[in-house]
Amino acid sequence: AASDPDLVARARAAKEALGERVFVLGHHYQRDEVIAFADVTGDSFKLARDAAGRPEAEFIVFCGVHFMAESADILTGPEQKVILPDLAAGCSMADMARAGQVEDAWDALVDAGVADSVVPVTYMNSSADIKAFCGRHGGAVCTSSNAQVALEWAFDQTPDAKVLFLPDQHLGRNTAVLQLGLSLEDCVVWDPHRPHGGLTREELEKARVILWRGHCSVHGRFTPEVVDELRAKIPGINILVHPECRHDVVTRADLVGSTEFIIKTIEAAPPGSSWAIGTELNLVQRLANAHPDKNIVFLDRTVCYCSTMNRIDLPHFVWAMESLVAGQVVNQIQVDPETERWAKVALQRMLDLPA
Ligand code: 13P
Ligand code: SF4
Repeated sequence: AASDPDLVARARAAKEALGERVFVLGHHYQRDEVIAFADVTGDSFKLARDAAGRPEAEFIVFCGVHFMAESADILTGPEQKVILPDLAAGCSMADMARAGQVEDAWDALVDAGVADSVVPVTYMNSSADIKAFCGRHGGAVCTSSNAQVALEWAFDQTPDAKVLFLPDQHLGRNTAVLQLGLSLEDCVVWDPHRPHGGLTREELEKARVILWRGHCSVHGRFTPEVVDELRAKIPGINILVHPECRHDVVTRADLVGSTEFIIKTIEAAPPGSSWAIGTELNLVQRLANAHPDKNIVFLDRTVCYCSTMNRIDLPHFVWAMESLVAGQVVNQIQVDPETERWAKVALQRMLDLPA
């Protein structure tokens, strides 16, 4: 739908009034009406880097979800304020690993006698508490663009290392099996709702990767049946998916990668080529609109936006920006100093990984 012209004008005026004092970041899954005001767009890895690279901006307005704003707060200077235009923009995947559950799991790994060899790696899509947990236990953060190097790094940390991968079982499994060459049997799933994660001591001893039972509610909807259906319907179609998709979808795809990778792939694709993309719908629609010379379809029969990403809309953006103009700092995301200290250790380990 077209944006309200009044709100567009107000957003423009507020941005102009704030000038260099504000830096607006937009994740690729944001609505077009919001992306129009982003100084930079990116996947979660690029945005973490970009936030850290703007020390002169007094306000970082983060158009994305809560865990991304927390990471920006951790990586920016103490004087910089990170604003999330709607505090209800969370992430259901990040909510699937709560700090208490992860601490309990760790205690169980200690009891089972395996914790000494476990290196925790958390996907960026997790709360600052979970990142801090990884920092304290010798682990790191990763994103969908560097999960392979992060896992390789983790396996180099101790002889016989095991990785505890949080919170997305699909990214963990897809990376371990398809990029590191491990087998599906090397991976076990820790269910935080069952005693001992639902695993026996023998299973834990044998496992190379312990996957937290979390998933993305958006990417988890793509199915192998639709992949097969589209291949039959559109000859020569290329299937391009995000690694948060189920393993049976990713193994049927032609290409897999982060949102940034998906964009670059489509930009480089020859005119006339056909693509089915398995990622959030705002991005797929934007790509289809930007590349009318390519046949771009969504890898699902239904509409699937990320409902929490979509909470950041033009009214919330305008409200946050106009509040800043009026000298009122609203919706600031502030990670407490102790959590920040350890989460930064885990984030820095990620940023230091070879490119
Ligand atoms: P990337 O930005 O790392 O591609 O992750 C996708 C996602 O689900 C963000 O919430
Ligand atoms: Fe979370 Fe999935 Fe939405 Fe990303 S797309 S914010 S992982 S629910």
